Amino acid sequence: MRRNIVAGNWKMNKNFAEADDLINSIEETLRQYDTTDVDIIVCPPFPFLELVSDVSEDANFFVGAQNVAKFDNGAYTGEISASMLKSMAVDYCIVGHSERRKYFFETNQDVAQKIDLLLKEDITPIMCVGESLEERESNKHFEVIRKQVEEGIFHLRAEDMQRCIIAYEPVWAIGTGKTATKEQAQEIHAFIRQLIREKYNDDVAQEVSILYGGSCNPKNASELFSMEDVDGGLIGGASLKAKDFIEIACSF
Ligand code: PGA
Repeated sequence: MRRNIVAGNWKMNKNFAEADDLINSIEETLRQYDTTDVDIIVCPPFPFLELVSDVSEDANFFVGAQNVAKFDNGAYTGEISASMLKSMAVDYCIVGHSERRKYFFETNQDVAQKIDLLLKEDITPIMCVGESLEERESNKHFEVIRKQVEEGIFHLRAEDMQRCIIAYEPVWAIGTGKTATKEQAQEIHAFIRQLIREKYNDDVAQEVSILYGGSCNPKNASELFSMEDVDGGLIGGASLKAKDFIEIACSF
């Protein structure tokens, strides 16, 4: 049965000393809460992976990366491969975040390639999908999400599919303070689960955790997480404050 998951995406924030403070404060805060019902994942920028991974050894959270190269190892200056991540004890990796799609022109085909490389290294992909405001207002959101899911991940065999996590992040809700309502989130999450059921079967659909992302905070998390198909959250801004992040993780 699928797990409750809360993942923190630090994005391109913090210097080394600040990252050190934040991860230690997450570790201390975690000791005050019971988080047995949730898998907590921290996704720092690449240079801080080792730092976060060291702290994770004695703490109740996993380490994730925010991106991975779409190629194996070799002459790709500035890129980070899935095998490098694996060698640094990274267990999860975000792929296809809307900021990567927007600023770095990542396509669904790139996302599919990255997912294959991650799975080969036994790293769990967290694949992000979500529509823009314009797409929602013109009622194209279902179509957009269907295409992202089909082209990004439906090439997988059932046994690989059920190892993956999907995050629904409406672009209009990311970093804007404008959260989707619990009904809007549930509607899309149920839609994604139905797509998985149709492509594979109900067992696979029930195994895949589907996270909500976009201005999730300690005030709105429990409402969102109470919905049947919302299995947790991908948290941006609020993951930069230890207490807020852990409170969100305890909102199930
Ligand atoms: P936000 O970001 O929580 O700051 O809206 C979420 C995300 O982009 O993963």
